[in-house]
Amino acid sequence: MEYILGVDLGTSGTKTVLFNKAGIKIASSTVEYELFTPKNGWAEQNPDDWLSATITTIRDVITKSGVAATDIKGLGISGQMHGLVMVDKNGTVIRNAILWCDGRTGKECAEITTKIGKERLIEISANPALTGFTAGKVVWVQKHEPDNYAKCHKMMLPKDYIRFKLTGNYGAEVSDASGTNLFDINTKQWSKEILDNLDIDINLLPEVKDSVDIAGNITKEIAKQTGLSTNTIVCYGAADNAAAAIGTGVVSTGKAFTTIGTSGVIFVHSDKPLIDKKGRIHTFCSAVPNKYTLMSCTLSAGMSLKWFRDNLCSDEINVAKNLEKDSYELINEGVANIPIGSDKLIFLPYLMGERSPILDEKARGVFFGLNTIHTKYHMLRALMEGVMFSQWQCLNVMRELGVKTNLMYACGGGAKSPIWRTMMADMYNIDVTTVKNEEGPALGVAILAAVACNMYENIEIACDTMVKIKEKISPITNNHLDYIKYYEIYTHLYPALIASFAKLNDI
Ligand code: XUL
Repeated sequence: MEYILGVDLGTSGTKTVLFNKAGIKIASSTVEYELFTPKNGWAEQNPDDWLSATITTIRDVITKSGVAATDIKGLGISGQMHGLVMVDKNGTVIRNAILWCDGRTGKECAEITTKIGKERLIEISANPALTGFTAGKVVWVQKHEPDNYAKCHKMMLPKDYIRFKLTGNYGAEVSDASGTNLFDINTKQWSKEILDNLDIDINLLPEVKDSVDIAGNITKEIAKQTGLSTNTIVCYGAADNAAAAIGTGVVSTGKAFTTIGTSGVIFVHSDKPLIDKKGRIHTFCSAVPNKYTLMSCTLSAGMSLKWFRDNLCSDEINVAKNLEKDSYELINEGVANIPIGSDKLIFLPYLMGERSPILDEKARGVFFGLNTIHTKYHMLRALMEGVMFSQWQCLNVMRELGVKTNLMYACGGGAKSPIWRTMMADMYNIDVTTVKNEEGPALGVAILAAVACNMYENIEIACDTMVKIKEKISPITNNHLDYIKYYEIYTHLYPALIASFAKLNDI
């Protein structure tokens, strides 16, 4: 029997899943780690926490499954996008990684835009300079930590660092590289023009390949630590969202998914690069060779709910522990009794600033319309609706660009919530489905590894066998009409608050 491993380097933890050739999960293991917020709006992690989580989870799934290491033919890695990892000439991490949800680089992004020109930057990299993206973080380190910058031998994205540690080889791939603002989407190589303008030596960046290409084999040292065989090949893998697309079968035009994970993402497959000239949503390379994606990102989706739960739901956490249930299940039960619109309470999910579609790192979370009738569950429902309003607003931008889809795949931890899935169907006003295997990104990169090992001829054929669809929810027209009333207010709140968010930030 042949097996493949998918490693998903997320923001809350790393999950490793072992699959058989048919895409059936054999064993999985997750290790969580810390997110450091040294200042309001900053977000960092230690890349070596990711590495030890990767090693522990691989060892764990091999032990749990009892599968022989020599039967594990390939491994793929997916990862949180945009983060900056810097290593010295010994391959040792120089400073904590600056993450996708870190908003410290407003000034640096403005400088990048002035140096390259907004239109030219979109022409080359398909996206405007965004605080979440990598280029601003590189310029920030150049400016604020020149000693660290001077020590830097290679700069990498999060999962590229882990692949480097597993194989000993530096490398990057298109789906993640196209989220850096340093990559030319036309030539599919690092942009010399952008790098020269920003005074970044091209040698600091690893060579870019396709996601299904083979990066190398597991090193002897990692084999010893994990129990893997040195014969196991590692493919380049993909950005988490691009990997989730493969893992849900979103590999042809018109197919789309919404992920409610730490962040909220809408992801649409496209045969050609569709670009939003206003930069509200992103255009990236797909993990399917020579294809593209249109993608939006709400920074605090599941993160908003986790924040509320961790700070204000200790009762649910304790009861859930006693009942051996998931605390989110109890939260969902409480929210189910609250009506659409949460009795006139609206939440703006901008806890970490916001990317799509408002692009404002100074925005912050808001509960609007609070009244004495509101309970904790009203706030929780408003929070879940606010996260979904944000997705709906992003989907509407994509619809403006001509995207047509009448089926949405729901993924991520949030897709487990029947309330969030129903909200999605009612707001988007289209059918929503889920896939049987909830391991989206891990399955996606396992599929890439399976193709890299020649188990399947190509990604599309592998998806036909390895991805299976579950139930479908259809929208209810009256609910849709009710949501429209709140959505209209939601979309007017941010423009009314822009100046106040900026003032608050400047204090
Ligand atoms: C996408 C983005 C997030 C991260 C976190 O642009 O920043 O989805 O990839 O997982």
